Amino acid sequence: MKINGKTKVCAIIGYPVDHSLSPVMHNAAFKDLGLNIVYVAFPVKTDMLKDAILGAKSFGLLGLNVTMPHKHSVIQYLDETESTTKSMGAVNTILNERGKLFGYNTDGKGAMIALQENHVDPEKKKMLLLGAGGAAKAIAFQAVQEKTELVILNRTQEKAKQLAKLLNKTFGTKVKGRSLLAEDLKEELETTDILVNATSVGMSPDVNASPVPAELIHSDLCVMDIVYNPLETKLLEDAKTAGATIVSGLEMLLYQGAVAFEIWTNCPAPVDVMKKAALSKLAEQGVRP
Ligand SMILES: NC(=O)c1ccc[n+]([C@@H]2O[C@H](COP(=O)([O-])OP(=O)(O)OC[C@H]3O[C@@H](n4cnc5c(N)ncnc54)[C@H](OP(=O)(O)O)[C@@H]3O)[C@@H](O)[C@H]2O)c1
Repeated sequence: MKINGKTKVCAIIGYPVDHSLSPVMHNAAFKDLGLNIVYVAFPVKTDMLKDAILGAKSFGLLGLNVTMPHKHSVIQYLDETESTTKSMGAVNTILNERGKLFGYNTDGKGAMIALQENHVDPEKKKMLLLGAGGAAKAIAFQAVQEKTELVILNRTQEKAKQLAKLLNKTFGTKVKGRSLLAEDLKEELETTDILVNATSVGMSPDVNASPVPAELIHSDLCVMDIVYNPLETKLLEDAKTAGATIVSGLEMLLYQGAVAFEIWTNCPAPVDVMKKAALSKLAEQGVRP
């Protein structure tokens, strides 16, 4: 593409951001569709967040992705935030529309689309969500809006209970929060359709770890692991061996990016192009399929 006076800019802000896959994914997509937009990464430390957002506004940036540690604190600097995103308290995508900044969270939608693209419809299915951190919260908020029956298990049980309470208060649901101990896991898994690992267990370099003992995984399950380094985690390997359907974390990453792309451009995202770009960047970082 030729950068000229009309080139628009999107960016990711966070700290650190140098390993982010978003720049390669989005630049490949803009190029594929012939859009005059570039995507860059800005490392922004906590004490510079307000200035960065004011800067994005004054430079007329088209859109931003927001990553750790700013997903929560950025909300106070936005003009408007989707109401459920506000209740969740985490923004990962910002649209600058005529000088006003609108906040969204595409992580949960990305996870649900990843399931649907693998022919798994989460509606009225029982989902067992492992983890109660930032990513788990985004998935939980989207899952209940898609009428999924949700149970949350977390190492720190109190956090699972707090998240369940927030969901039940926001949506009038009956989500349960329990511990990640083997007996709770075993009992819940027997009646589960979709198992989602949203803990960091199994992430490189701890690649031989899994949050679920292999013998508890049954062939009727769909298992999604949102960890994408390695691309096939120990949990996914065990699920494959058990004959379960598997969905990798790369798919969630891809579709959260695709939803953000569509918010900024109003164009359907070229997901195959974005996936190829993400895989080649991961290969550069030593992560292979
Ligand atoms: N595919 C994607 O698009 C995508 C998007 C976002 C994040 N991710 C990945 O998702 C993972 C979680 O990210 P996050 O932002 O949610 O992190 P986070 O907010 O720090 O939450 C971490 C979660 O993992 C749990 N955990 C950590 N170590 C554990 C252990 N040894 N045993 C059991 N549970 C453990 C924590 O439990 P406690 O509450 O007990 O500490 C917490 O529930 C990371 O690997 C991240 O790379 C993927």
